[in-house]
Amino acid sequence: MPADLLGIASPVVQAPMGAGISRHELAAAVSAAGGLGTICVNGAAEIERELAAARSLTDRPVAVGALLPFLRRSWLKPLAQADVVITFWGRPRRLAGGSWLHQCGSVEEARAAHAAGADAVIVQGVEAGGHVRGTTPGLQLLEQVRSALPGDYPLLLSGGIAERADVARALEAGAIAAVAGTRFLLSPESRAHERYRERLLAAEQTFITELFGLGWPAAPHRVVANEATRRGLGPDGSIPLVTRAIHAASGPTGRYVPDAVREKMIARQRAGSRLLSPITATDDRGENLIDGAPLYAGETVARIRDVRPAAELVAALTP
Ligand SMILES: Cc1cc2nc3c(=O)[nH]c(=O)nc-3n(C[C@H](O)[C@H](O)[C@H](O)COP(=O)(O)O)c2cc1C
Repeated sequence: MPADLLGIASPVVQAPMGAGISRHELAAAVSAAGGLGTICVNGAAEIERELAAARSLTDRPVAVGALLPFLRRSWLKPLAQADVVITFWGRPRRLAGGSWLHQCGSVEEARAAHAAGADAVIVQGVEAGGHVRGTTPGLQLLEQVRSALPGDYPLLLSGGIAERADVARALEAGAIAAVAGTRFLLSPESRAHERYRERLLAAEQTFITELFGLGWPAAPHRVVANEATRRGLGPDGSIPLVTRAIHAASGPTGRYVPDAVREKMIARQRAGSRLLSPITATDDRGENLIDGAPLYAGETVARIRDVRPAAELVAALTP
């Protein structure tokens, strides 16, 4: 039962969507509707502010996402205020006292999260949007993880979730809840740039690349094509050696770049640039990012043709 672990009435979780796509507006709307909403921002002050804003809108549980490669010690205090912490990418470890979920892309990673004491794991299928940890279709990986871990250990499924039937299939396969990102990005409460939403509504296809690897190299992510991918990738989808080398060199230092410098670089990021950061087009950033930054989306984007309020989506997804 999802209610036991996550304190929610509906088995629908809104995925963490980084760099400020999912802030308090979306997370609170999902939680207030009976699902579990997730805030995903970088910085201690930002986490604190977004969580407080969400609390002013709902008294239901709210989750906060933390990308482990970018985690700083100062985030731990505000993370302790979250009802649920969802970690991703890297050695699984507990960051705070509430419920802890780790998103995994393989059986090995799920085993490691279980051994590290995660209360549940989110099994991420290769269909997922944004950064993709695994290489296996979600339902298949769910089955593999289910047989590798104790039968009563709670699992959630992310990737491929856009309609009620998808959630129903996940539950039938033994998940306690389903996690959707792209479907909730296409709601008025997400902070995606209006033109980002328009591109997704028109999209038929996605693909996985490592192109937007500045400060986070060799991390595959699923996107919709734009001018940056058309100009930045070779005809076979390969990344030019120079871009790859710059991104590889930026890896260890990327997280220490001062915010003001990072924002200046992002404001200048264009198609054709070799400095392609993973930051995406939110409504408080420039239009240069529509064709100069990753337009993250999952495979479900081909099935989504409308923007719908988050509360309506929770109801529509709940079996
Ligand atoms: C725009 C976008 C940003 C994402 N950012 C993050 C993130 O910062 N942290 C994280 O754990 N997962 C992130 N994800 C992945 C989601 O947690 C989840 O695996 C994915 O959204 C599921 O696939 P779907 O988008 O097809 O529903 C992101 C996904 C999208 C679409």
